[in-house]
Amino acid sequence: SALPGLLARAPKAELHMHIEGSLEPELIFALAERNGVKLPYASVEVLRQAYAFTDLQSFLDIYYAGASVLLHEQDFYDMAWAYFEKAARDNVVHTELFFDPQTHTVRGVPMGTVIEGLSRACADAQARLNVSASLILCFLRHLSEDDALATLEQALPYRQHFIGVGLDSSELGHPPSKFQRVFARAAELGLHLVAHAGEEGPPAYIEQALDLLRVERIDHGVRAVESPSLMVKLAQERVPLTVCPLSNVKLCVVRDLADHPLPKLLDAGLAVTINSDDPAYFGGYINDNLLALFNALPQWGPREAHQLLRNSLESSFAAERQRGRWM
Ligand code: ADE
Ligand code: ZN
Repeated sequence: SALPGLLARAPKAELHMHIEGSLEPELIFALAERNGVKLPYASVEVLRQAYAFTDLQSFLDIYYAGASVLLHEQDFYDMAWAYFEKAARDNVVHTELFFDPQTHTVRGVPMGTVIEGLSRACADAQARLNVSASLILCFLRHLSEDDALATLEQALPYRQHFIGVGLDSSELGHPPSKFQRVFARAAELGLHLVAHAGEEGPPAYIEQALDLLRVERIDHGVRAVESPSLMVKLAQERVPLTVCPLSNVKLCVVRDLADHPLPKLLDAGLAVTINSDDPAYFGGYINDNLLALFNALPQWGPREAHQLLRNSLESSFAAERQRGRWM
């Protein structure tokens, strides 16, 4: 069929991609060597073999260990640049990247090193690859709200380099309600607001993210399928869900792609988008996610492909500026 080619070539936006989750094992080892960091894995192959996850936490432990090789501005640049080359190949025209500053500042890496390296790569992505890229600063929800507030204050000298804030890391036991003050502060600063909710957490966490944090998009949100009333609200308000199918399989959120709630969410009129989450860890970039998904869902064809890719462009925070160029 013509569908794989259409999926690969169509212009698309990526709205749920953790830049630290694009760090491939080869680059982890190269940076470890460059920086004299000792890794608890003997080789690229041994590290890759450790990528067998049973839940979100089993992944996060390895993901934070991988990020320990990032020390200098150039390391953050090189990591982001490697992702942008893959994004350009996948015909991503716009991407909104999550980054986790607390993972780095806790190791003594200055906030400016993180943001300036990523931001310089974003500028080069526009200039050299014609990929527009923005940054979203994520708070680690397993840490305290005071830590998140201090992180936001530390980032204020670099306010022009990021467009929003998000909430990620261990979801269960760390509900959105824990972060109301820091999201209110971010709103005052004119930042866009998003949060991971309903990946492992219950539909009530999605409701809290909307009602207490006032987020504009929900990251993952797949457990909305368990609440008919929430499904109606998300559809009526066209709240985008940034869904990550291969991630959901690797972290055992769903059994397999054929069993994914995406068809139910799309049929109910939700603004779902397809994203890669942590592509170096979950077996694929955005086009790999799209191809695997359509391969597993024989009921889906060109109509669904167009809808999903249009949703990605329309749900982006660049949509107003870009209207007419993409749509
Ligand atoms: N950090 C990176 N990927 C994540 C995910 N899928 N859920 C929560 N936190 C994350
Ligand atoms: Zn994520």
